[in-house]
Amino acid sequence: MTQTLTITSPDDWHLHLRDGAMLKGVLPETVRDFGRAIIMPNLVPPVVAGAQAAEYRGRILAAMPSGADFTPLMTLYLTETTDADDVAAAHASGLITAVKLYPAGATTNSDSGVANFDKVQGVLERMAEIGLPLCVHGEVTDPSVDIFDREAVFIDRVLDPLRRRVPDLKVVMEHITTADGVAYVLSQDERLGATITTHHLIINRNDLLVGGIKPHYYCLPIAKREEHRVALVEAATSGDARFFLGTDSAPHSDPTKESACGCAGVFSSTNTMSCLAHVFENANALDKLERFASLNGPAFYGLPTNSSKITLIKQADPVGFPEKIHTEVGDVTVFDPGFPLHWTTS
Ligand code: DOR
Ligand code: ZN
Repeated sequence: MTQTLTITSPDDWHLHLRDGAMLKGVLPETVRDFGRAIIMPNLVPPVVAGAQAAEYRGRILAAMPSGADFTPLMTLYLTETTDADDVAAAHASGLITAVKLYPAGATTNSDSGVANFDKVQGVLERMAEIGLPLCVHGEVTDPSVDIFDREAVFIDRVLDPLRRRVPDLKVVMEHITTADGVAYVLSQDERLGATITTHHLIINRNDLLVGGIKPHYYCLPIAKREEHRVALVEAATSGDARFFLGTDSAPHSDPTKESACGCAGVFSSTNTMSCLAHVFENANALDKLERFASLNGPAFYGLPTNSSKITLIKQADPVGFPEKIHTEVGDVTVFDPGFPLHWTTS
């Protein structure tokens, strides 16, 4: 028997679209299901000023497939020299929805990120005043900290002190991967939210490393132990308003992933809603999927929910998704959840 589920159209609160031919190749994969997405600014060079965000937004709109109903929500990349007035003007004009903090060197194209947090105190205070959220890549970069501990250490060393210094700042812990991240969010008030990716709800570090290294499961923050994945599923399926979807879908061409020094990033835009329906159904929480994917994010950001709806349909036979998206700069492998998918959105 066919099962269907109609929900408010979802948004992706953390997405990498890149630029040029890659943008053109991957954008259709997002606009198919999503009404809006927070667009990450880690281009080369990064999107650090309002004028650059306006130009990037223009390129995204120009790359849009015809008939698409999709709004890119732009962000600025925080650096130690970010101008608070420029940030405030970009926010006042409606151009940007958030500012992104990358600790310097934490991940792909993060060299211009923040090393000395004193230098961004003024910008953070201004953001708190105007109600502009800070999206945070929550990993320390200290080489002496084990890669699997970097999120938990970041909470104690950087995030909690930062939030005490600027208590009114709205903060999104991006792509949390640990039970520690979940617990920290639950211990705080509604000024702190967290995004959770599709892939971190599905894979653990064994999937990445046992039986041969799987470069297409390599991302940052790296997938952790199973107990952490379970904590993330509990958080996402709880309906708690502080947790919402941010896929962190991050396209890299296959040769740059399947390499002796492969890039970090999982590309999941194509089948995210199908994967999520599977995860939520398995957790007996299909009724919470709309909150996670479509309601909690807009509520955190103070935006209206999408007026359109999408219908998810469960089919008896597995649904076929493309293994790869072909772009003019090479193939991009689509996230393989490791189980057959039965839900489709078309
Ligand atoms: O896996 C990741 N890929 N994590 C990030 O934080 C950045 C992203 C990218 O830009 O490729
Ligand atoms: Zn990201």
